[in-house]
Amino acid sequence: MSIQNKIRRNTVPQIRAHKGQEPIVSLTSYHAHTAAIVDKYADFILVGDSLGMVMHGMDSTVGVPLDLMIMHGKAVVRGTQKALIVVDMPFGSYEESPGVAFRNAAKIMKETQCGAIKLEGGSRMAETIRFLTERGIPVMAHIGLTPQSSHIMGGFKTQGREEDGWPAIEADAKAVSEAGAFAVVLEGMVEPLAAKITKQIDIPTIGIGASAECDGQILVLEDMLGLNEWTPKFVKVYGELGSAIDRAVKQYAEEVKDRSFPTEDEVYR
Ligand code: KIV
Repeated sequence: MSIQNKIRRNTVPQIRAHKGQEPIVSLTSYHAHTAAIVDKYADFILVGDSLGMVMHGMDSTVGVPLDLMIMHGKAVVRGTQKALIVVDMPFGSYEESPGVAFRNAAKIMKETQCGAIKLEGGSRMAETIRFLTERGIPVMAHIGLTPQSSHIMGGFKTQGREEDGWPAIEADAKAVSEAGAFAVVLEGMVEPLAAKITKQIDIPTIGIGASAECDGQILVLEDMLGLNEWTPKFVKVYGELGSAIDRAVKQYAEEVKDRSFPTEDEVYR
């Protein structure tokens, strides 16, 4: 017998049904507490491997281990009730073969209880996407600027600046859609190309630095909250959390130093 939760999470078919309808709202989250806030407004939450750079100070996402994704995935699932939770497959956990990808994707889903995984790559990952989806693992694809390939791409560069590069990216979008992905992230892509792809395929496109023409948008939460010293040019910063934290820590440090730190009575209300 199973106990039904009163609040039901968004499902993969519900996200897919947004195609051409109301835009999909999504953000990344890595912890239970921020995820609980994002959960009120987002259709899905991505536990992105950007956590390696944003939270753990890595230079790229290449060094992120599977266990770290699982640990943060568990925290985000615990902190949320409504949004579909998608967990990134880190570099090295899926490229080798469909079988390896299945084993690691199943591990992520079993241990975190997330609803889907995301992996990077277009045509070259189509066989793996088909293998996973045919075996019950919902896949969100990610094409255009794919940070796990930044060493090959020579950094983080907007894709499709030259029109002769468009057909390969369009072919990637078509390949992941036909292989069974339920949505695809378009990262760092010129607007006319993102708009063209969005019209060409029948799964939702989720843009990040790829214009408002997509079926939905995603941003890295810490970027839009103003927590990072550097943010990509396309990011609108909606909060000033970095300076708010700075002010709070500075005031605390001053109060400790001049012994004006609150007394026990004031602290333990
Ligand atoms: O890892 C991540 O946060 C992502 C988003 C930028 C889409 O993949």
